[in-house]
Amino acid sequence: MKNIILFASGNGSNAENICTYFSQRKDVKVVALFCNKADAKVIDKMKPFAIPVHVFTKQQFLDERFFLPLINQYQPSLIVLAGFLLLAPNYLVKHFPNQIINIHPALLPKHGGKGMYGHYVHEAVLAQKDIEHGITIHYVNENFDEGKSIFQNSFLVNELDDLNSISKKIAELEMTNFPKVIDELLKKIN
Ligand code: GAR
Repeated sequence: MKNIILFASGNGSNAENICTYFSQRKDVKVVALFCNKADAKVIDKMKPFAIPVHVFTKQQFLDERFFLPLINQYQPSLIVLAGFLLLAPNYLVKHFPNQIINIHPALLPKHGGKGMYGHYVHEAVLAQKDIEHGITIHYVNENFDEGKSIFQNSFLVNELDDLNSISKKIAELEMTNFPKVIDELLKKIN
């Protein structure tokens, strides 16, 4: 059995999509959601899947002795950040080498870094008149959005595009590709 832990603290559309994708599988299981916002919509989205939810503070996240046992009880093959905005602490990155991945709604290294998420990214794409926009799935290291890229997919931005339309196109790319990339990665992890 390969276990996935999700980290998410937003709307949870990616988290829900990943749970749906793996829900019928005997060889892969989403075993827990970790969330640092008690009122995040993603928490409700876990209910149909009966997935345990751990809500934690930033202080707890930074405390290795508190947090690592919480994670280790699930023996994760992969930790998936799906709309999670805190920086992963060094101890976590060291403890799970090449086992933590993140999705970012831009073609990194463009539009990455602290504070670049969701609509801020798309606004930057429009303001800078980028001709191409897309998603990156990458390994997580000690810096925001700087780990090695695993997968990118893109579309051409046209002059009719606005915040709403490019947000939708990004969401479509994420829904189609994120679970498949996770599935492929898991095949390479014992
Ligand atoms: C997704 O678009 C994801 O790429 C982005 O947050 C959104 C979460 O949506 N992540 C980042 O911006 C990370 N820097 P969701 O909660 O509906 O899945």
